[in-house]
Amino acid sequence: MNDANSPSHGDHQLTDKGYVPIYTTAVVEQPWERYTATDHEVWATLYARQQELLVGRASDEFLTAQQAMGMSPDRIPRFDDLNPVLRAATGWEIVGVEGLLPELTFFEHLANRRFPVTWWIRTPEQLDYLAEPDLFHDLFGHVPLLMNPVFGDYMAAYGRGGVKAHAIGPEALVNLTRLYWYTVEFGLIRQKDGLRIYGSGIVSSKGESIHCLESDAPNRIGFDLERIMRTRYRIDSYQKTYFVIDSFEQLMDATRPDFTPIYARLASLESIPAGEVLATDTVYHRGTGEGWLNDGDV
Ligand code: PHE
Ligand code: CO
Repeated sequence: MNDANSPSHGDHQLTDKGYVPIYTTAVVEQPWERYTATDHEVWATLYARQQELLVGRASDEFLTAQQAMGMSPDRIPRFDDLNPVLRAATGWEIVGVEGLLPELTFFEHLANRRFPVTWWIRTPEQLDYLAEPDLFHDLFGHVPLLMNPVFGDYMAAYGRGGVKAHAIGPEALVNLTRLYWYTVEFGLIRQKDGLRIYGSGIVSSKGESIHCLESDAPNRIGFDLERIMRTRYRIDSYQKTYFVIDSFEQLMDATRPDFTPIYARLASLESIPAGEVLATDTVYHRGTGEGWLNDGDV
C-alpha cells in the first residue's frame, strides 16, 4: 500500500489488536485499477497459504461457500464480480469502505445485507500480523459464509440486534459484541469428524488456524448464549477460550428470542474472565493455559 493507496482517518476504536483508527463512514468504490502488483501478490500469497491450512480445519460450510463464491486466488477480486453471485445466493452484497466503521453504521449495513469490506490490503511486511481488518480479513474471512443462507440470516439478524442494543445502551452493546466476537470472529463448529473453524478472525490467520484446534492451551467449550455474553476476550493474543456450536441452525435458534430481558438480567452479573471454565460448561477441552498473560482481557 503506497501513499496514494492509503486511507484517511480520524477517531479510534477498539478491535482485536488494540485501538485502531475509524475511517470515513462513507461507502467507497473499490479502486481496483490502483492495486499494485505487490497488492495482488500479497492477496495471492495469503490466499494460497490459508487455503492449504484450511483443508481439514475449516468447516465444510465455509469451504463449500468459498467454492460457490469463486473468488480469484491469484489476484484481488473485484467486488463488482462477486456481488451478482452473492446477491443471487442470499441477497447479500459487498460495499467498499476505508476501514472500521462506527458501530451503528456497521449494524445498519448488516441489517440491510450489506457487508462492509475494507478495500486496501496489508503490505508484504504485515503478512502475519496487522492491527486492523484489511481486505484479506474482510473478503477472504467474512464474505464466503454470506453465501450460506442460515449464516447470512444470522448476520442480518445480528445487524438488527445491534441497532436495538445501541439504543438500549453501552452495556447491552458490550454483551452483543462478545457474541459477535465468539461466533462470527472466533467461532468453532462441531462436525461429525471433529471440531472445525468458521470464525473469520481465525480463517484469515495462519497462526490461529492451527492454534485454535491443535494447541492444548485454550479452552474449547460448548456454545451457551448468556455465558458468552458475559465472557471477556483477548484483543492482543490468541483467544483463551473458543466456543463450539453444533450447527448454524443452533446459532439462529439461540439468538432468535428478544435479547432485551437478557441484557437486563446480565447487567447485574459479573463478567467472566476470558480463560475461566465454569462448572456448568460443556467442556470439549480444558485449556492448560500455557502462555496466557494474566491481564488484558477486555
Ligand atoms: N434476537 C436478538 C435481539 O433481540 C437479535 C440478534 C439476532 C442478535 C442474532 C444477535 C444475533 O436483540
Ligand atoms: Co472481522
